[in-house]
Amino acid sequence: MKPPSSPPPSSVVRKRSSARHLFTFLASLIFFVTILYGQDKSSIFSQLDLNPRQTDSITKKGREKLPFAIGEAERGCDIFSGRWMRDEARPLYEEYDCPYIPEQLACQKYGRPDKDYQHWRWQPHGCSIPSFNATLMLETLRGKRMLFVGDSLNRGQFMSLVCLLQKVIPEHAKSMVLKDSKRTFIAKEYNATIEYYWAPFLLESNSDNAIVHRVTDRIVRNGSIDKHGQRWKGADIILFNTYLWWMAGNKFKILQGSFEDKIKDIVMVPTVEAYRMAIRAMLGWIEKNMDLKKTRVFFSSMSPSHEKSKEWGGDPNGSCYKETKMIEDPTYWGSSTRRNIMEAIGEMFSETNIPITFLNITHLSNYRKDAHTTIYKKQWVPLTPEQIANPISSADCVHWCLPGVQDNWNELFFAKFFYP
Ligand SMILES: *[C@@H]1O[C@H](CO)[C@@H](O)[C@H](O)[C@H]1NC(C)=O
Ligand SMILES: *[C@@H]1O[C@H](CO)[C@@H](O)[C@H](O)[C@H]1NC(C)=O
Ligand SMILES: *[C@@H]1O[C@H](CO)[C@@H](O)[C@H](O)[C@H]1NC(C)=O
Ligand SMILES: *[C@@H]1O[C@H](CO)[C@@H](O)[C@H](O)[C@H]1NC(C)=O
Ligand SMILES: *[C@@H]1O[C@H](CO)[C@@H](O)[C@H](O)[C@H]1NC(C)=O
Repeated sequence: MKPPSSPPPSSVVRKRSSARHLFTFLASLIFFVTILYGQDKSSIFSQLDLNPRQTDSITKKGREKLPFAIGEAERGCDIFSGRWMRDEARPLYEEYDCPYIPEQLACQKYGRPDKDYQHWRWQPHGCSIPSFNATLMLETLRGKRMLFVGDSLNRGQFMSLVCLLQKVIPEHAKSMVLKDSKRTFIAKEYNATIEYYWAPFLLESNSDNAIVHRVTDRIVRNGSIDKHGQRWKGADIILFNTYLWWMAGNKFKILQGSFEDKIKDIVMVPTVEAYRMAIRAMLGWIEKNMDLKKTRVFFSSMSPSHEKSKEWGGDPNGSCYKETKMIEDPTYWGSSTRRNIMEAIGEMFSETNIPITFLNITHLSNYRKDAHTTIYKKQWVPLTPEQIANPISSADCVHWCLPGVQDNWNELFFAKFFYP
């Protein structure tokens, strides 16, 4: 990040109200006007946000120095608020250069005809993010274990990070191991592992099998986080996510006893309440099992899907299939990301004293209807002739092609990791 050489916008505003600081104000004004005419206007105007939204992505305690941090973010800059900029230097790696991209995300290999979606970079308003440095990340991870826990979107982010890092590791010194619910990337010479663990609800559920988890009637067990959690112990960095699997109507089935019980005690609760239960359990687990003086916790917000093109004013019956341009409307939100869940996350993280670094990737991904895998992927279950005949409805508008959007998530993760 740039050193904080310019006064943060809030100080400019405060000075305005004080007559005694007229001179300072005039100096600031001259400074400001100079910038205004010298640079891109939109980013300057956004700096003048007098009523900033919740931009502090770290909870209360977060201003203490966090493990692994080597600097600070520019004050007052929300790196998740910005815009997409065309960048011919992207992608950061080629699909064929990363041997670990799973078949479900390898869009070019499965025939995607366009590549435009790869050439975009997220540019925050009012500041820049540091360039991703794989060597720095690997050096920092020496002798450490980094763990991604969550659903297939988090697996995508894990894969993207592995692709970004593996470039600088020679062939003989890296490997990927798949076992049960876990994938482990090993960087031998660094004695470092980057792991992914499948737990779509974080809590124990009937969808926990890493392969066979297509359950229509989803049930989550109240409070049961240790079943998975025992496998996360000892991790130095954990990045959690959970969202997509909760999206099965407004009510959710919660099991009060155990899955072994003959007569199961199941209650239906509002989904947002069930979601809160999971976040609460996650926070409890972190508090009990992690030494936050030495370790870090991250949480990625909801990844949006783009299943209905009518939501962005497109074809009334369309989906993300054949979309090659992103959404321009900066206020676009879409029905796939529930505001009440976002509010619940914001509320719970602002109330806790646990320093969780929040990766608010929802809004920036909302624009990217062009970047999903659609039909260009290996299917878990071969498509039926009807599905092949109807790509609009069989397109996957949830997952993201690699390279692509998720590399940008990792650049923001990198920024927050080193410059929280
Ligand atoms: C990346 O990080 C390494 C290790 O800290 C450092 O030696 C190198 O100069 C950095 N590269 C760039 C391009 O900043
Ligand atoms: C490798 O890292 C692990 C922690 O993940 C540590 O326990 C072990 O001592 C390290 N081994 C070497 C040879 O540095
Ligand atoms: C989960 O269990 C706790 C403690 O038994 C209870 O207070 C809470 O209401 C339950 N939550 C849900 C969503 O069922
Ligand atoms: C959309 O689908 C509906 C119902 O399936 C159909 O009646 C309508 O003609 C379709 N519209 C377009 C523009 O394809
Ligand atoms: C994440 O960012 C969006 C868009 O900027 C914002 O509306 C939302 O409140 C943020 N969420 C949290 C929990 O800060």
